[in-house]
Amino acid sequence: MNLAVIGAGYVGLVTAAVFAELGNRVWVIEIDEEKLAKLQKGEVPFYEPGLAELVLKNLEKKRLSFTRAYSKAVPGAEVIFVCVGTPTKRGKVDLSAVYEATRELAENLKQPAIVALKSTVPPGINLKLEEWMRGFTQEEFELVSVPEFLREGKALEDTLSPHRVIIGANNTVAAEKLLSLHRGIGGERLVCSPTSAQLIKYAANAFLPTKISFANSIAVLCDKLGAEVESVIKGLGMDRRIGPEYLKAGLGYGGSCFPKDIEALTNIAKEAGYDFRILKAVKKTNQAQIKYFVGKVLRLSGGSLKGRVLTILGLSFKPETSDIREASSLYLIKALKKLGAKIRATDPAALKEAKKKIKGVAFFADPYQALKGADALLLVTEWEEYQKLDFEKVGQAMRTRVVVDGRNVYNQEELEKLGFAYEGIGK
Ligand code: UGA
Repeated sequence: MNLAVIGAGYVGLVTAAVFAELGNRVWVIEIDEEKLAKLQKGEVPFYEPGLAELVLKNLEKKRLSFTRAYSKAVPGAEVIFVCVGTPTKRGKVDLSAVYEATRELAENLKQPAIVALKSTVPPGINLKLEEWMRGFTQEEFELVSVPEFLREGKALEDTLSPHRVIIGANNTVAAEKLLSLHRGIGGERLVCSPTSAQLIKYAANAFLPTKISFANSIAVLCDKLGAEVESVIKGLGMDRRIGPEYLKAGLGYGGSCFPKDIEALTNIAKEAGYDFRILKAVKKTNQAQIKYFVGKVLRLSGGSLKGRVLTILGLSFKPETSDIREASSLYLIKALKKLGAKIRATDPAALKEAKKKIKGVAFFADPYQALKGADALLLVTEWEEYQKLDFEKVGQAMRTRVVVDGRNVYNQEELEKLGFAYEGIGK
């Protein structure tokens, strides 16, 4: 099939690469000139395992092309995916990129097409958006919603073998066409209205952090009651009605999706006349987790952080990504600096991003260098290489042997044997 994808962010680029890999002819429209120039040379502007190889392969096979011009990509496309960003501004979803993209798209329609929204948009937007687009074209089009559920770092796996493909289409011909386009992609199928599809996306991105905040609350209780969070969570997740995933306790969730979508759904509900109380508590619990962690660092540092050298291991919002948007590290560093600590930090992929965003921190590529003279090691993002550190070497580099484990990855007994004071969360 001939396809167009608007926006070469995570969602757009992965969607384009995967559909090209499945044999479709895909044009990607990107308005950022710098990003576009890179992509045309086969360079992926962010770190995502396996993606650069897939992009390059399909560029060479001429199944994938990049352009700034809607007039090149849109006219021949049977399905056009809208994958532009929908950030939140003061809690409200900013749809300006969606309106801009759909306007240019409509102006360039030359044949009937399916316009599939992959951007996360407020449920029920289709009527208004359709009316807006009809103002720019006489051509027939069907506006549907195919929300994206991929995780950064696992984007290809999640796109090729998702749990489900949700097709929000009122028109059965359009639904059939999308079902056939998704042949070759795994997972269950659900066809529903666009509004329902859009709400499924928000519900998923609100429910998962709800599970995380719940697990984090249980972890705090474990600390207070002397229970072991790992056993408690394991036992909890063994109940198939609950399931083991998204119950890992730690410093809390971050990233470009959960915090933004929790905020957005809270406001969408409010505008619809409903007070979504649970979500407010989820957000507060997540913020409180940083304070709780700082409390541990303070206690293990003898009650004051003035002049203390603290080394942060991991800056990205989770392992296997260079993305630091809404990362726990940002909030933690801010809080620790306020208390007078001197921060040294390292990350395998996010240093470039971090240097742009975080000031007053000494950055190092090598974790052992970063730990030189440190009074405490703070594990913030559980990258594999930090889980496999040589703690003899770590101990020699540090001034004081203190480890505060924000992701519960280290073996307490082993560290204590080596003379480290250790605390996790709920352990
Ligand atoms: C999330 C969703 O998982 C995807 O399904 C969705 O498509 C995506 O948002 C989006 O809307 O684009 P992502 O933000 O890439 O994906 O990250 P996750 O892997 O879900 O992790 C989010 C945060 O939760 C991370 O900070 C992670 O460290 C934290 N987390 C995750 C926990 O603290 N505990 C857990 O058990 C799981």
